[in-house]
Amino acid sequence: MILGNAEVRTIGVIGSGVMGSGIAQVAAQSGYAVRLFDVDETLLEKAVGSIAGFLRRAAEKGKLTPEAAENALTRITTTLSLGECEPCDLVIEAAPESIGIKESLFRELSSIVRSDAILATNTSTLGVTQIAAAATYPERVVGMHFFNPAPLMKLVEVIAGADTSDEVIGTVIETARHMGKNPVRAKDTPGFIVNRVARPFYLEALRLLQDGIASPETIDLLVRKGGGFRMGPFELMDLIGIDVNYAASRSVYEQYFQEPRFRPSILQQRMVDSRHLGRKSGRGWYRYDEET
Ligand SMILES: NC(=O)c1ccc[n+]([C@@H]2O[C@H](COP(=O)([O-])OP(=O)(O)OC[C@H]3O[C@@H](n4cnc5c(N)ncnc54)[C@H](O)[C@@H]3O)[C@@H](O)[C@H]2O)c1
Repeated sequence: MILGNAEVRTIGVIGSGVMGSGIAQVAAQSGYAVRLFDVDETLLEKAVGSIAGFLRRAAEKGKLTPEAAENALTRITTTLSLGECEPCDLVIEAAPESIGIKESLFRELSSIVRSDAILATNTSTLGVTQIAAAATYPERVVGMHFFNPAPLMKLVEVIAGADTSDEVIGTVIETARHMGKNPVRAKDTPGFIVNRVARPFYLEALRLLQDGIASPETIDLLVRKGGGFRMGPFELMDLIGIDVNYAASRSVYEQYFQEPRFRPSILQQRMVDSRHLGRKSGRGWYRYDEET
């Protein structure tokens, strides 16, 4: 099999949540061998179940052959041991949006993978340069920011840290293209492009709700019917994960030195406290009881 990029054959994916499972699926469907790591065995099993379901439905709809679906699934190996990422040419980290977690993962991964392997972060808002500083070879660290759902969304933001080499950027762009994505270069600033543009979309909707002006249903309906958006802000927060969206809001706010227009909402905090996290927990701004 000829792959688009001769250097990248095995891809490690760290974190098997909403994004990690989607990225693992895209990579496997594109012909890469995938090592999918998580700290939680139940979530690894859930990820494989959801990837298998997605591939089966795609095969039923004729979007890929049953053999291609089966082959993609067999390319994914799950593991609870980070050390199993040792043969990976590229590792894409999709762990929670916490600088502490990401720094410690990049420190540990540096001692596991070859010195010429690439370490990419799927962070939505955190500094690639800061994450890279925890790695042994910051020139091999890059931002590779997929969008949700990763198997369907075409955009990938590619972000160079202060020391990232041009060669690494080139390989990541080529790999993203081989996955059928449209890579776009973005600067290493909080939220990059999309997550900065998107902040007021969520936060102003939350202010409307908090001020008692309109319900989530009304706001979503108006944004869809009046604005032509595919999903309203509350539907999108439920898809993303309210905890993940809140972490992104906090991160952008803090990194812009508490710029008032980026101030997170107490409503997000309450939803996270109550563990109503959206689709992944069966309940968020809406209920998804039948899907869980
Ligand atoms: N959800 C989105 O729409 C979206 C979109 C783009 C980027 N992102 C970014 O992707 C990353 C992951 O987000 P998500 O939505 O998949 O989160 P998630 O909560 O769905 O999944 C996170 C996973 O990481 C695992 N994990 C926890 N601690 C870990 C550790 N120390 N090492 C490895 N894995 C660990 C968890 O068990 C979980 O399976 C975040 O940085 C987020 O900002 C999210």
